[in-house]
Amino acid sequence: MPLKNKKILLGVTGSIAAYKAILIVRLLIKSGAEVKVVMTSAAKKFVSPLVLSVLSKNKVYIQWHEQYEWNNHVELGRWADVFLIAPLSCNTLSKMVGGGCDNLLLAIYLSAACPVVVAPAMDEEMWNHSSTKRNICHLIADSHKIIEVNDGELASGIFGMGRMAEPESIIIFLEENYFREANLVGKQVLITAGPTHESIDPVRFIGNRSSGKMGFALAEAFYMKGANVFLITGPTKEFLRYKGIEMIKVESAKEMYHACIEFEYADIIIMSAAVADYSPIIVADQKIKKKTETIQIELTKTNDILKYLGSKKKSNQFIAGFALETENELTHATQKLIDKNADCIILNSLNEVAAGFEKNTNKITIINKKETITYEAKLKKEVASDIVDYILTQL
Ligand code: CTP
Repeated sequence: MPLKNKKILLGVTGSIAAYKAILIVRLLIKSGAEVKVVMTSAAKKFVSPLVLSVLSKNKVYIQWHEQYEWNNHVELGRWADVFLIAPLSCNTLSKMVGGGCDNLLLAIYLSAACPVVVAPAMDEEMWNHSSTKRNICHLIADSHKIIEVNDGELASGIFGMGRMAEPESIIIFLEENYFREANLVGKQVLITAGPTHESIDPVRFIGNRSSGKMGFALAEAFYMKGANVFLITGPTKEFLRYKGIEMIKVESAKEMYHACIEFEYADIIIMSAAVADYSPIIVADQKIKKKTETIQIELTKTNDILKYLGSKKKSNQFIAGFALETENELTHATQKLIDKNADCIILNSLNEVAAGFEKNTNKITIINKKETITYEAKLKKEVASDIVDYILTQL
């Protein structure tokens, strides 16, 4: 949870998208963040301060003072790890650029010691206006980050650019841009994921049930530890939350092999793909017609990518393989550790209820040359984080 215990100050300004601030606060709290909210008076017309206060578990700041108590803008600006202004209206944007200070939110902005990130929201004409473009350029020049607007239906009923980014994307933006850890900075990590598809003819293939979930979770976990991550994946429905991970899509075992050897220099290599062991020798040009009672398709062994990379392993490189077994699990996994010259094998057994294809959970055992470590059944995201933590102890 990259946002756990992080302090997020949310600024809400007068735009119809202010109602989405409710969801932003909810998601931040669910992610373990501490949240305080500051609103402009105009924002109050679009979303209730009471709702934001209940959800953020904090008081909501609007005025410079209440009764005889002063709201200390400097303190709020220093409290936050990030000041997120979402939605950012055209009016507040222009005041930020001009150094205006006629409300508490702007005073906090001017005294903020933390990074400032904005999610603009406005109608398309306003968004495309040259003054808005100029103002956005100013914010960028002032080292603030802009969360891109979306295309879609706007408050005016017109379809176009100007919709505030969705709350989920805003949370991901914060995680990726401000809360990556530094443990693996400068390290190159290669991960394979998903199944491979071996073509028989233009419409059919031999595949397997791998969903790619584990590999995708690993890619995100390594990325959030600061590494440069290259994810080579076979066909899957999974998607990456973070833009900074480089994804290379392949179909067959052969394509995966060729893609992987481009990254054989990587510091850490994790082979979680379920690569086909055999592939048809001949791929028919046209769809095979059902003319005969039986059919034979001759298959040939594919390159074992892990074994190849293991044979070229450098002393400062860490290589992990996976093993999915149905019987004699530990014996087979230990054999793979030796045969493929890996530093460890991550074993999951189809006999475990929590493990297997397309599940969101997994139960793993890590086997290296010295020991066998067994883990509890967990969500694949948590398993990924255990694997990263284990590898960090081995580097
Ligand atoms: N692997 C690979 N290239 C292949 C086959 C497997 O890189 N052509 C990798 C997998 O990504 C995994 C490990 O080798 O990390 C073990 O894969 P697995 O399918 O469990 O074992 P195999 O080596 O294919 O042996 P078997 O199918 O006989 O169990």
